[in-house]
Amino acid sequence: MEPITVLVHGALGKMGREVTAAICRDPELEVVGGVDIKATQEQFTLPDGSKKVPFSSDLSSLLEVCHPKVLVDFTIAEASISAARTALKRGVNVVIGTSGLLEDNLKEIAQLSEANRVGAVVAPNFTIGAAVLLNAVKAAARFFDYVDIIEMHHHEKADAPSGTALATAKAMLQSRGKPFLYSKTKKETLSGTRGGQVDGITIHSVRLPGFVASQEVVFGGQGQTLSVRHDTIGRECYIPGVIMAIKEVVKRQGLVYGLDTLLNLRGSDEGI
Ligand SMILES: NC(=O)c1ccc[n+]([C@@H]2O[C@H](COP(=O)([O-])OP(=O)(O)OC[C@H]3O[C@@H](n4cnc5c(N)ncnc54)[C@H](O)[C@@H]3O)[C@@H](O)[C@H]2O)c1
Repeated sequence: MEPITVLVHGALGKMGREVTAAICRDPELEVVGGVDIKATQEQFTLPDGSKKVPFSSDLSSLLEVCHPKVLVDFTIAEASISAARTALKRGVNVVIGTSGLLEDNLKEIAQLSEANRVGAVVAPNFTIGAAVLLNAVKAAARFFDYVDIIEMHHHEKADAPSGTALATAKAMLQSRGKPFLYSKTKKETLSGTRGGQVDGITIHSVRLPGFVASQEVVFGGQGQTLSVRHDTIGRECYIPGVIMAIKEVVKRQGLVYGLDTLLNLRGSDEGI
């Protein structure tokens, strides 16, 4: 079988490099080019040293040269939606990991992928553990009235809480269909100690060197607690999900949102 040809958008970035190296290790896949706004040469050598492939800052021209089956994107949101438009209109499947896409962007990707009869996978978190955690906590959210989310990240993370924590809260609320209960503390002697609040869900953000990205969801019920925790210790955690998405996207038409959907973990009654 011919390998699935892939163009990496954001090839010089941390994720772009990891993904390029992982594709090179997989005999079913082949990197045929790279695009990055910082590209200064017309070619780059693949990490396994096997060959040089075209490299550019101009996606449109490289799509003409390389004719990839799939575009994988790890850049920034504005670049990502524009690349998705360009690729989908040319009949190229897309796998997008860039965070920060808006609901309107997702609608546009869904519409363009259907109109051009190609697949699109957009997943804000490509770790398999996070997808399984999401599925588990959505089930628990129906039976427990109290929940806290503790998310732990490296000390240089710019924002708090994490996008994943907010997405987890949203998914649990959707599954439950009403807010959680929250026990107010009569006297908080240190402001902020109880964490932030979303519809009864308390979120605590730990920022410490040593962590990469971890999340624990703790449910409280009568005489019992339930904790579901996911830890990542390196950037390679995203790779199995990305590789799976590349192999799946070519078999589909339209948008698949979230790795949990791709893994068939999500209930069929839920949309994006
Ligand atoms: N979905 C996931 O599981 C997952 C995992 C890790 C990171 N991310 C997200 O992926 C994105 C990239 O992360 P990173 O750590 O690799 O960042 P990074 O800054 O290391 O890499 C981004 C790359 O995109 C390039 N770029 C920026 N604008 C561009 C443009 N207009 N055209 C072409 N290339 C452009 C940059 O030059 C850079 O090389 C972020 O949004 C991050 O949050 C998602």
